[in-house]
Amino acid sequence: MADVRTTMSDELVQNEMSYQAMSGEAMHWFRNQTTGYRKLMAYYNCAMMEVTTKLNVLNEEFSLQRDHNPIAGIKNRLKSFYSIQEKLARRGLPLSTESIEQNLTDVAGVRVICAFPEDVQMIEDALMKQDDLVLLQRKDYITKPKANGYRSLHLIVEVPIHLAREKRRMKVEIQLRTIAMDFWASLEHQLKYKKNVAEEEWLLRELRECADISAQLDHRMDEIRRRLQQPR
Ligand code: GTP
Ligand code: MG
Repeated sequence: MADVRTTMSDELVQNEMSYQAMSGEAMHWFRNQTTGYRKLMAYYNCAMMEVTTKLNVLNEEFSLQRDHNPIAGIKNRLKSFYSIQEKLARRGLPLSTESIEQNLTDVAGVRVICAFPEDVQMIEDALMKQDDLVLLQRKDYITKPKANGYRSLHLIVEVPIHLAREKRRMKVEIQLRTIAMDFWASLEHQLKYKKNVAEEEWLLRELRECADISAQLDHRMDEIRRRLQQPR
């Protein structure tokens, strides 16, 4: 688990380039945070651990009943301070721990990479049946992919964390996708990340085509799985 105490100072060093673009006010706020911000980040970290444990439990159970592990991998990330202050500033919102908690839903992010499209559905269903999870938002980019071809299922949930003296509900963004969807999204992100690439027509067309090919792959692999499951 990332140590939140070291994460903050490391962040300033590691992201020096990004931080040069940060306003003096935000930098000042960040440097002066002693407990409030660190505590909040620790809570988000705990919430990610809760969700990750739930997913690992489901994976364990389903792998006993089925011929494969539905979850191929889980990735966690805590939003960096740079991204937090940038998102708040972009939306004209104040920079404070209250504002972060109220306005941002993706400080804690859990990405679930599933083997087959059917697994995405199965994991969502099993997760949302749990009575301590509250679904705040659902965006289904699998049924309705984005114009560039991006496919994933996004859930914003609230999960309780049990602290020594209190119970807190924290928001976590869960992204569920197949290996093929993740392959496309990771490469698309790398191609465009911080390159200020204009949304030119040829680029959109190429990415869209690659996304369609990856969707076909998902479909064909699913068909193979179904055939193998049929009694021979
Ligand atoms: P953000 O302000 O970026 O959080 O967008 P949003 O609030 O409209 O949420 P949305 O559910 O559309 O996207 C949230 C996250 O999904 C992003 O931060 C990315 O991690 C991922 N995502 C969304 N669209 C794309 C895309 O076109 N390509 C890739 N690679 N990832 C995407
Ligand atoms: Mg986001």
